[in-house]
Amino acid sequence: MDGRRTLAGPELIDLHPPPADMWRLVEEGMERQPRQLPAWLLYDAEGSRLFEAICEQPEYGLTRTETALLEQRGPELAAALGAGVLVEFGAGSARKVGPLLEALRPDAYVALDISADHLRAACRELQERHPQVPVIGICCDYSELTQLPVHPLLGRRRRLGFYPGSSIGNFSPDAAIALLRQFQQLLGPDSRLLIGIDQPKQVALLEAAYDDRAGCSSAFARNLLTRLNRDLAGDFDPSAFAYRAWWDAGASRIAMALVSLQPQTVQLAGRTWPFAAGEMLITEYSVKYSAAAFLALAGEAGWRGLARWSDPADDLALHLLEPIASGEGPAADTAGAPQADSGRPPR
Ligand code: AVI
Repeated sequence: MDGRRTLAGPELIDLHPPPADMWRLVEEGMERQPRQLPAWLLYDAEGSRLFEAICEQPEYGLTRTETALLEQRGPELAAALGAGVLVEFGAGSARKVGPLLEALRPDAYVALDISADHLRAACRELQERHPQVPVIGICCDYSELTQLPVHPLLGRRRRLGFYPGSSIGNFSPDAAIALLRQFQQLLGPDSRLLIGIDQPKQVALLEAAYDDRAGCSSAFARNLLTRLNRDLAGDFDPSAFAYRAWWDAGASRIAMALVSLQPQTVQLAGRTWPFAAGEMLITEYSVKYSAAAFLALAGEAGWRGLARWSDPADDLALHLLEPIASGEGPAADTAGAPQADSGRPPR
């Protein structure tokens, strides 16, 4: 197929995701009230490094808890998923899939990620560790992909989706529904989806997870300004903004923002942008879904819950979903779903 490039070892298919129109997206975000930029802009090379550092912080338990759950429940999860091709959305360095590959021995493992470098390295490592499973990397924007490329290992086989990390929380609820619908289109009617969901918990724990003492979360957010300076001819002074992370109960989410410490003007994307003292630039939201809220959201997207696993403290859940057969109608009521609401940081 067009654009396919095969490397030695695991196969890498480059679908050449079109470069995002950064200027337009940044302009749109800067014109919003409050200002809010797309969260994927946080992940340049330095941002990805800082995110890995966040995952190691004692306050940020999500990654450790999910990894442990996958390790402990690997055989059970594999039995519930059944046979097929395992497709991981946004695989990144694919650190979590090992126990599933071990227990499930899927017909093939397909890693979808936008970063070809990450993908190549992750697929090579996985192929070495799991020589019995054919590994295929597809360089693409997984939030846009509606079908897998034609491939002898992928046709006519059941597809099992894997979306760990609670990354769905970084989408607005509407965008999350659209994403889950699109996953179903890609996976097909006989599929399953295993998805990691960070749970609502004590506010102090959540706020600390997104504002760690070592300052990794703050550096991660500030790096966005450095990136904008580099890629969009900006002149932000990162030290002129404070980082804030707070729980917005109405929307069941952590909001993360850079707050202007003084009145200032900034050049960006060929325009001048005034900031009032205290004005904020939202860098990211992280929505936390209870079991009921998540199943309501999944139901809106045409998925029904089959099983749920969580750690003893119920900090993080893995939900196994199956498509609702067409004609059955939505599975769950929407009570308990987070409301759209942009709260301001408490002073
Ligand atoms: C990638 N995502 C699930 C992280 C989260 O927890 O929402 C992103 C993050 N941002 C700051 N800390 C973590």
